[in-house]
Amino acid sequence: MRKVLITGASSGIGFELAKHYASQGWQVIGCGRSLERLSALCSYSTLIQPLAFDLTDKSQVVSAFSQLPFIPDLWMFNAGDCEYLDDGCADSDVIERVMTVNVLGLSYALDAAQPHFTSGTHVAVVGSIASELALPRAGAYGASKAAVSYLIRSLALDWQKQGIETSIIFPGFVETPLTDKNDFAMPMMISAQQAAQYIARGLANHQSAIYFPARFTWILRTLSLLPYRCQQWVVSKLIRSPS
Ligand SMILES: NC(=O)c1ccc[n+]([C@@H]2O[C@H](COP(=O)([O-])OP(=O)(O)OC[C@H]3O[C@@H](n4cnc5c(N)ncnc54)[C@H](OP(=O)(O)O)[C@@H]3O)[C@@H](O)[C@H]2O)c1
Repeated sequence: MRKVLITGASSGIGFELAKHYASQGWQVIGCGRSLERLSALCSYSTLIQPLAFDLTDKSQVVSAFSQLPFIPDLWMFNAGDCEYLDDGCADSDVIERVMTVNVLGLSYALDAAQPHFTSGTHVAVVGSIASELALPRAGAYGASKAAVSYLIRSLALDWQKQGIETSIIFPGFVETPLTDKNDFAMPMMISAQQAAQYIARGLANHQSAIYFPARFTWILRTLSLLPYRCQQWVVSKLIRSPS
């Protein structure tokens, strides 16, 4: 029986991923802070077990990963948060909060999980297409996901020698509690269920980079190839700053 651990499984994309894998007969460890929401997830299948801890507390992460009910074949590091900066304001409190969850929290989890990795382990990390192109007010979130992308691509260079497979996921807009709070247009947004399908299919096909939805992520990736000055001009013309 295949086994997966999913961080951020109490909500949104991670919730749908946990349901998807359980429906395919995988044993699932669903992680999050909220035991109440994890209990709701576990009610979908007896194959799902909850594991509650705060990713930003290193001792909690170490303790959680030292008492796993089984060793996963697939580690899905999906948990994350998003906050936008006010126009032109490099608010260090916001930047610290976002970096702490998305970058430091991920590094605590990778550090604690790594002793369990063996040849054949698959490590999947959810980044964001926002890391590919600078967008208004997305400085903290985009920078955190750019850090995630670089960290994983760098670790993957050594992990591949040990037979550890790595995938990075670059979603566009997905309808979840994270985006529910946004007050601006989110083009080509897809459901969390669709996102889970794209991710599961990409991982099954051993894709090292998984981008979706195709048209939206293709547009952003193409714009990111332009010289910075052109990127700035196009973004300022085409993408209205969130109000
Ligand atoms: N939605 C999008 O449009 C979109 C686009 C690109 C990338 N992403 C990325 O996709 C991932 C999942 O996002 P989502 O949209 O599904 O958001 P979501 O519904 O808000 O889910 C976030 C998950 O992360 C967990 N989490 C947050 N802070 C945590 C902490 N300190 N410790 C442990 N768990 C924590 C939450 O669990 P608890 O609240 O129970 O702790 C929750 O399960 C994130 O990495 C996000 O950046 C999302």
